[in-house]
Amino acid sequence: MFLNVSEELKKARIGKYAIGAFNTSNLEITKAICSAAKEAEMPIIIQTTPSSIEYAGLEQIISIVKTEIEISGIDASLHLDHAKDFETVKRCIDAGYRSVMIDGSKLPFEENVALTKKVVDYAHSKNVSVEGEIGAIATEEGGEIEGKSEYSSVEETRKFVDLTGVDSVAVSVGNQHGAPEGEKINLALLKEITESIEIPVVMHGCSGLSESDIKSAVDLGVSKFNIDTQIRIAFSKTINGEYSEDYRKMMVRAIDSVQKVVERYIKLFSNK
Ligand code: G3H
Ligand code: ZN
Repeated sequence: MFLNVSEELKKARIGKYAIGAFNTSNLEITKAICSAAKEAEMPIIIQTTPSSIEYAGLEQIISIVKTEIEISGIDASLHLDHAKDFETVKRCIDAGYRSVMIDGSKLPFEENVALTKKVVDYAHSKNVSVEGEIGAIATEEGGEIEGKSEYSSVEETRKFVDLTGVDSVAVSVGNQHGAPEGEKINLALLKEITESIEIPVVMHGCSGLSESDIKSAVDLGVSKFNIDTQIRIAFSKTINGEYSEDYRKMMVRAIDSVQKVVERYIKLFSNK
């Protein structure tokens, strides 16, 4: 079944569990994510960044994800991750996405609010859920940290939510993209933020977080966790250096590795 992300995240917040949002850009990873969700019997979100869409093709990735969700009989939804401009969001909504993120986190506060509000107005007129972001999350690539982390402030987060009307909000409390060593959540700040707003809170950059930080964040009311890097690592490590004339054998092993990673996270987020 195709989920309404906003409704599903509200349920998760009330039920004190979280939904895993997993990034894909191809058939194999999508299959692995869907098989993991089926095995764990939990709803999930499958998400694509603009660069994954560029890689796979918009229509192609939509039909791969939708078909896999339908065939596996899981409860899931397709979500646009880290769109940076209105045009990309509009293109994806018009093509069939029912949930989108607009990431204006690198913009000054007022510009982030204006861009996010424009997306919310368009998306809500089409019954599409919107995730915004406040505070900036740094990215680690090959040991290099790109951009600066800027913690979300409690006051700004509350203002951002009120002014934009977003359905969920991604926050920066020590979480970082990539899986940098020593990644750690400021749990006291996270607690203050989750208690100060009523809408679901989203956490990006969860691949480098410890199990105990993730569990604490679920207990504090985070409703959506994003995982990309651990999927990439599992996929690439499995096929790295291997050669098989029948490449499908390598792909099957890569699917299996990714499925195991995703299953482990889904169970962790489910708080069971
Ligand atoms: O939007 C995607 C996620 O924030 C990915 O985070 O690099 O820690 O897996 P990650
Ligand atoms: Zn992210």
